[in-house]
Amino acid sequence: MSRPVQTARLDRLLANMGYGSRRDIALMTKAGWISLDGEAVRDEATRVRLDADLPSRLLIRGKRLDPLPGMVIMVHKPLGVTCSRKEAGTLIYDLLPDRWRARDPALSTVGRLDKETSGLILMTDDGDLLHKIISPKHHVPKRYVVTLDRPLKGTEAAIFAAGGLMLDGETKPLLPAELEITGERTAYLTVHEGRYHQVRRMFAALGNHVTALHRDQIGALSLPEGLMAGSLRLMTAADVAKLFAVPAK
Ligand code: URA
Repeated sequence: MSRPVQTARLDRLLANMGYGSRRDIALMTKAGWISLDGEAVRDEATRVRLDADLPSRLLIRGKRLDPLPGMVIMVHKPLGVTCSRKEAGTLIYDLLPDRWRARDPALSTVGRLDKETSGLILMTDDGDLLHKIISPKHHVPKRYVVTLDRPLKGTEAAIFAAGGLMLDGETKPLLPAELEITGERTAYLTVHEGRYHQVRRMFAALGNHVTALHRDQIGALSLPEGLMAGSLRLMTAADVAKLFAVPAK
């Protein structure tokens, strides 16, 4: 059975997408700034169908509409940026275009990376998708490039793979995680849950210290090489599908 196509009032849709207040949208329609399929929309109460191709057909001052609600973006988080809405310093939300910051439902980060961790982080306004990615039930693997203060002992991979490691202050043991050693003090660590400071605390539990941390993969989705720190990219349905695909070895 096909899903019924949703419709929305133009002024509400655009106001929720950050284009201004509903009054602003009414003024924009009166000024002839909004067109659908090449025709000016003069009534802000017009209902539009939320078809996937709406952004290419609904133009605001000649520019295509922003992505409809249900958007997912990937961000290359730089070091020193905080995944929080309210804190001193640069926030991940400061990397978004102004209009995207004003959206309702708002874009939220899918989990968090520490201020001193760089790499791939996703943002979405789709609460169901967000929960699906972070829920340990779906086991979406997250891979980190880890640099350590002290040389690896060689026993870490087996300890992490066995699962059951108990982090300081926690009561639930960790799920198994995979360590791939790439150098004396460097490794990839893939985890399947997202506990607070998890990777740093896993190495701390074994008497080592993480000096640099970068996430380069979620599921089978890798941080694109061309996506520079501080940049973001809209995700396609194929990118989203990769989150739930098994990464190639
Ligand atoms: N584990 C950490 O310790 N920090 C992160 O930012 C992500 C995973």
